[in-house]
Amino acid sequence: MARDPRYDILFEPVRFGPKAMRNRFWQTSHCTGYGSDRPGTQARFRAMKAEGGWAVVCTEFCSIHPESDEYPWHSARLWDEGDVVNLRYMCDEAHRQRSLAGVQLWYNGMHSPCLESREVPRGPSGLPSNVFPERCIYDAAADEDDIRAIIHMYVLAAQRAEQAGFDIAEVTGSDSTLPMQFLERRYNRRTDRYGGSLANRARFYIELMTALKRAVGDRIAVTTRFETDTINGEHRIQHFDEGLHFVELMHAEGVCDLWAVKIGDYEEWGEDAGSSRFRKTNWMRPFVSHVKSIVGAGVPVVSNGRFTSPDDMVAALRSGQCDVIGAARPSIADPFLPAKIEQGRVEDIRECIGCNICVSRMQQQALLSCTQNPTAGEEYRRGWHPERFEPAARPCSVLVVGAGPAGMECAMVLGKRGYTVHLRDCAQELGGHWRDVARYPRCSEYGRLISYRQIQLAKLRNVQVHLGVPPMSADDVLAYGADRVVIATGAHWATDGVGAELHRPIPGADAARPEVLTPEQIMAGKPVVGREVVVLDGDGYFTGVAMAELLADRGKSVTLVTNMNMVTEFSKYTMEMPNNKRMLNEKGIRTMVNHWAHGFAPGRLRLFYLYRDSAELYEVEPGRWGRRTSDALVDLECDSLVLVTSRVPNGALYTELKQRRAEWQRHEIQAVYRIGDCHAPRQALNAIFDGHRLAREFESPDPQHPLPFIRERQIWGHATIPQRGEPR
Ligand SMILES: Cc1cc2nc3c(=O)[nH]c(=O)nc-3n(C[C@H](O)[C@H](O)[C@H](O)COP(=O)(O)O)c2cc1C
Ligand code: SF4
Repeated sequence: MARDPRYDILFEPVRFGPKAMRNRFWQTSHCTGYGSDRPGTQARFRAMKAEGGWAVVCTEFCSIHPESDEYPWHSARLWDEGDVVNLRYMCDEAHRQRSLAGVQLWYNGMHSPCLESREVPRGPSGLPSNVFPERCIYDAAADEDDIRAIIHMYVLAAQRAEQAGFDIAEVTGSDSTLPMQFLERRYNRRTDRYGGSLANRARFYIELMTALKRAVGDRIAVTTRFETDTINGEHRIQHFDEGLHFVELMHAEGVCDLWAVKIGDYEEWGEDAGSSRFRKTNWMRPFVSHVKSIVGAGVPVVSNGRFTSPDDMVAALRSGQCDVIGAARPSIADPFLPAKIEQGRVEDIRECIGCNICVSRMQQQALLSCTQNPTAGEEYRRGWHPERFEPAARPCSVLVVGAGPAGMECAMVLGKRGYTVHLRDCAQELGGHWRDVARYPRCSEYGRLISYRQIQLAKLRNVQVHLGVPPMSADDVLAYGADRVVIATGAHWATDGVGAELHRPIPGADAARPEVLTPEQIMAGKPVVGREVVVLDGDGYFTGVAMAELLADRGKSVTLVTNMNMVTEFSKYTMEMPNNKRMLNEKGIRTMVNHWAHGFAPGRLRLFYLYRDSAELYEVEPGRWGRRTSDALVDLECDSLVLVTSRVPNGALYTELKQRRAEWQRHEIQAVYRIGDCHAPRQALNAIFDGHRLAREFESPDPQHPLPFIRERQIWGHATIPQRGEPR
């Protein structure tokens, strides 16, 4: 199909510095954990976006020198020739798709732990890091020699970037990196010409850009990523104050070819990568929109905001907010987003749901994965393409039981591969437990996980979806007539309080009683007795906090109790923790950490403190050693108890089918597999990955278990670059 002319503006070329991009789609710098140490994964991941129509693809933050070493976070690095070799592959792959490659030059001063390099980072004032206050990280205050040395490091890194083939050297001034540390009053205590007035504090940043422009600026574009507002009040950068004034100062020097603007800082980069639970599309607009009016027509501005709808993109361009649509997460969830707009296939866009699981992978120092797009990060190591599927080698009929995330994904991929699929579920709608999730407070965008698959399944003539059918027994499955069977029956919340803390039921906690509820029961409308409600959260992600908010909004007096060190502990990885805490505080929801339930009786929940026993080990009685135990308990008023303690697989159907294996042949069933939560209840991204992987590897000798993938690492006996002791 032809593209809608309303979207033509998105496909206009844009010039900046010595470069031109073929359309207005820019994949902003975002980390992956692939860095320069996994060149294949890095290159194929970015190349997929280039193939999908992103005119610019950037690396993640790229350390310019061992003084800025973020290990165990895996950033890209441009420390030496070895990194040049590895990153060149990414540039070559981007160029093969007619896209430009950008690298984000990063020196993080006082926030660099340097756990691998053991070097000492330099910074404006020799202060402790507020991002990692517990890790004892300080910068060494830089004198003017140091400042010249650091600028030289940037120049060398930009030259190495050029050698690798990069078209864009983006200086990150955002995320509290060194240029921002000089700029912000909070960090800059200097009394020399690099401290004091805004013009003085801006000097380092401007001198740095000027040096880069001189060194490489006639051949590659020199751009910057800047936060116009750190959203932290007066002592930081505020949009209408120093944020915009700094843009004016830098722009007057003519040393920046393009501005990529955002908000937040390193400590709270979840304000930039705003999750859909707290920020809606283009939430940064009020903070970034004035940059364009300062820099004028000649210098393009890139703006992000979880843009997935071409209408929102066009509106942002036409309103004068920006010239280029920046995207990190939308490009992860759908590398082919621009191509789909261009081909008039907007309904096929796999929209980012804003869950920030991708962010959580970074914060766990892991490799990037995505809930919506199970192929993200698997392009090289498993050879997966998000839009292309190997036709079935031996097409046959497949019954998929359960239409939750895993079942939908598996049926969709099997269907795209040409299998004849029946997807069956006793619910009236697709989605399994995720339908409830999408109705939790703030989680409506999570529903895109269902709607994308619903649209795709409806397009597949070889996939039949049977909803509202009676639950299938093992007899029904055996008699169904399918060649192969996939069980995707999901999981449910424990009804007896079993959780990771004790792995045993909580006395008195029985969801058959009116005063005890599971999240499913609440969403199904079970009345919540009384006013005092305790949500017992042993899960630590969004369900506990969502139940607490939902009940507080209904006028209940709510206490959120968890065995973990922090409430909603997993949200420290999705970067939602600070806003979760703000919301809990605003809504008057009380919190208790490091406690678990001892027993429940209507009106009273009895808790124990996890660390109530002695720190010392004693000879408790002759020959028997241990802690001196305490039986101290805490009572909470509790009319209703909500159990968000753990999930239990709905595994009975698979178990029975497995036990009746001898009957499979008689019914001409070749194999029965299980996927998703009925196998092991984990986060949705794992359920979707499970379903996807099984369908991709359906012809392997044992599809239940994954095939190996390529592991990128140094194999002993091959040369490394640089060699020990070589000069830098
Ligand atoms: C997983 C992930 C990693 C990111 N890493 C970086 C980074 O290394 N450098 C940077 O400037 N921004 C980084 N960002 C921020 C994004 O570039 C972008 O500004 C932000 O996600 C908002 O845009 P979006 O709504 O299009 O995702 C990252 C974002 C995500 C989701
Ligand atoms: S993991 Fe979630 S937030 Fe990140 S890109 Fe995928 S869908 Fe979007």
